[in-house]
This record gives sequence, structure tokens and C-alpha cells, in this order.
Amino acid sequence: MLACNPNAAIEDSPIVSLKPLKKAVLPVAGLGTRFLPATKAMAKEMLPVVDKPLIQYAVDEARAAGIEQFCFITGRGKTAIVEHFDVAYELERTLADRNKTAELEALRAQSMTPGSIVTVRQQVPLGLGHAIWCARSFVGDDPFAILLPDDLMMCETPCTGQLVAAYHETGGNVVAIEEVPRERVNRYGVLDVAEDKGRLVSVKGLVEKPPIEKAPSNLTIIGRYVLMPEVMGFLSRLEKGAGGEVQLTDSMAKLIGMQPFHGLRYEGKRFDCGDKAGFLEAQVAFALRRPDLAPAMKSILKAYA
Ligand code: G1P
Repeated sequence: MLACNPNAAIEDSPIVSLKPLKKAVLPVAGLGTRFLPATKAMAKEMLPVVDKPLIQYAVDEARAAGIEQFCFITGRGKTAIVEHFDVAYELERTLADRNKTAELEALRAQSMTPGSIVTVRQQVPLGLGHAIWCARSFVGDDPFAILLPDDLMMCETPCTGQLVAAYHETGGNVVAIEEVPRERVNRYGVLDVAEDKGRLVSVKGLVEKPPIEKAPSNLTIIGRYVLMPEVMGFLSRLEKGAGGEVQLTDSMAKLIGMQPFHGLRYEGKRFDCGDKAGFLEAQVAFALRRPDLAPAMKSILKAYA
């Protein structure tokens, strides 16, 4: 078990020395109720956008940012995710026998280094903060990234890579942020801004899903984070917040003033694939970027316009 006295951890080391960022935590225990019946027997993170499951996009993004160790926070009914990242020996053999070289190479390009994925079960769904706390042994004393696979990113420089660069620049916690219309702030973690420097925003507070009229800004957190390990000390209190859940945002807020904490206006676009309309938009947008599919997709869109 990790030493989790939050006060001691923070006061003894106000700024963590900059370690390389090699670890990522991916919470994948959610039930996916918004996609029932599709997700009755299948993990929502395995839903494909074009021909790749959501979880694969998140892992590819993290790997492109230099992440080497992954912790999936899973739950019951999520074994397909682990299978997906295993070597499919028989499938590879069959593809090789049939000279399906392109398909074989695509599979191999995605294969993971042995030992680079661990899974931890979140036995009870107590909230995102609780899910992240379940990774405390994996995280140890290292900074780590969090990727919520429901948020699918389309960015020239992968979003997690942008955060890692900002971590090296600021020396502390960084969350990816975007502006949303006021009437939607109550769905997100919201920034209380200390200083808005454009790309980087220093933060004096964070509120999870505030009522619209009480929201301190319309700058919201998306599902990409780089956090210092001290957040685990606060998470270990398992205090309930908005919606009666253990909220990650509440523990992140406690780091403010003790460690650097910034929001990063990332460059790119986010698709909320936890929502049906967002998921469908992602299918169209990602298909239109594929040379093999764009012409067909364009004529389909014309036909239905
Ligand atoms: C979670 C976080 C929230 C963040 C959002 C981004 O909320 O708690 O702070 O803004 O992800 O997608 P959820 O979507 O799980 O309700």
C-alpha cells in the first residue's frame, strides 16, 4: 500500500521533482447504460469508431506521448478489453497463411510490450475518483496521465502529448480544458481561473458539475489529465462529492496552492463518445479523414442531407 497521508505528502514536498511521464491510468469500469442494448454484453470501450475500438484510440494516443505502462481500471464484463490487447496467435497465423500482410501488420503494430498493461478491478462503482484511487499501487510515487476513453480526441499532436509537454513546462498538474456554452457547464469539472494566459490557465479552484448559476467559468475539464501522485492521498479519504460520488475533481482541487496546477487549452477536437450524437459525429469525422472511406462517406452524407 502506498503511504497515503495527504497532508504529510504535500507539506513535505511542495513541488515534485520532474520525473518522466511513463504511466497512464484508464478507467474502463463504467456500465455504458447510455448505449444499451449494444453494451449489454460488450464493454462500451470496445465500441468501434470506424474500425478501431475507443480504448485503442486512447492507448495509441498515450503511446504516442511516450507512455509505457498502462493500468486499466476494469469491472465485471470487461474482459474483452484485456483480450483485445493480447496477442491473437491463431488469428495472426491464419492471416499469415492467407497472405493478408496488411491486416497482419496492422495487428502487429498495435501489439503491446509484455507486462506493459495491468488491470485492477473497481469492485464497486463509487465514482471516477474512486476508480483512480484503485490505481494507487500502480502509480506509486510517479506522475501519471489519465485518459477517459469516452472522450475521443482528434489532434495533430496527440492531446496527451500536449499535456506531457505542458507538464514539463509548468512542473506540475495539467488538465486539458475547453470552453463550453454556459448552459452545459453543469456536466463537467469547471475551472475557477487565477490567471488566463491563453494556452495555459492557472487555476485557483475546481468544481465538479456546479449548478449553472454558480459555475466559476465556462472552462471545463475534458477527459485528459497529467497528475502528481500526491492526489492519491486526497482520494484515499473517499469523500463523496457531486452526485454522491467520489469525484476526482475534488481531490485535484486540494492540490491547488501546494503544487502547480494548470488547465491547457489543447489544440484539436474532442468527441464525446459517451453520448450517442457525439459518437455518431465521431464516426463521420474519422471516416472523412480516411482516404479509403472519405469519397464513400461524402456521397452518403450528400444522399441524406
Ligand atoms: C468526468 C469528470 C469531469 C470531466 C468529464 C470530462 O465526468 O468527472 O470533471 O469534466 O469527465 O468528460 P463524467 O463524464 O464521468 O460525468
